[in-house]
Formats: sequence, structure tokens, C-alpha cells
Amino acid sequence: MPVYSDKVMEHFMHPRNVGEIETPDGVGEVGNPICGDMMTFYIKVKDNRLADVKYKTFGCGAAIAVSSMVSEMAMGKTLDEALKITPRTVADELEGLPQNKFHCSNLGAQALHKAIQDYRGKKKGGK
Ligand code: FES
Repeated sequence: MPVYSDKVMEHFMHPRNVGEIETPDGVGEVGNPICGDMMTFYIKVKDNRLADVKYKTFGCGAAIAVSSMVSEMAMGKTLDEALKITPRTVADELEGLPQNKFHCSNLGAQALHKAIQDYRGKKKGGK
């Protein structure tokens, strides 16, 4: 059983911003090829900033803590700033993840980035 930091445990027990945005500006869904877990991020964009960030995570405790942390890190950031969130910065904010759980931290940043790309793609399409 991996040993989690207090911060991971805290976010796992009390995840922030869980849920779905009804009319999102962007959606990003990713699956983890290693374990098959899934994560979906929903974003609302205002003036090029993330006005709201929510997610649904069907995954392990680390994945839940990661999505909670990503939502907190991304909230209020510009889209370019949010794209700088990486699995490593997320794991650092969580005060580390066990080696065999590091793959779980990929999901959060990937799903967020995908949601931003989805938003930008729609905008380009004239929506
Ligand atoms: Fe699947 Fe962690 S074991 S995301």
C-alpha cells in the first residue's frame, strides 16, 4: 500500500470543486492506459481566464487528490498559465506522490490541457 503525504490524504478525503459544469466552454476527457481509470475536466472561461473548473474522476485515491489539486491550481489562471501546470508541478504541490503512483498525476494535467484545447478549438470554429 503506497504511503501518501498528508496533503494527498486531505485532498482525497475532501476533494474541492468536484462535479460537472452544465454548459462548459471546454471539456477534456482522458483515460489512464496503465490502470484504465478515467478523468473529465470541465471549464468555464471568462476574459481568457478560468472562471470555473470542475471534474469527475473515476480513479484511485491519488487520481482524486490530483484532480482536486489541479482544479485549485488552475482556478483563476489565464489559459496560458494553466497550460504550464504539469504532472510534476501537481505532484510537488501535493508534497509528492509515491513512485508507483506518479502515473496517476498525468491524468489531471492532461485532462485540463485537453479542456483548454477543446475551448480554443471551438472558438476557432467560430462558436
Ligand atoms: Fe489509476 Fe491512479 S491507479 S489513476
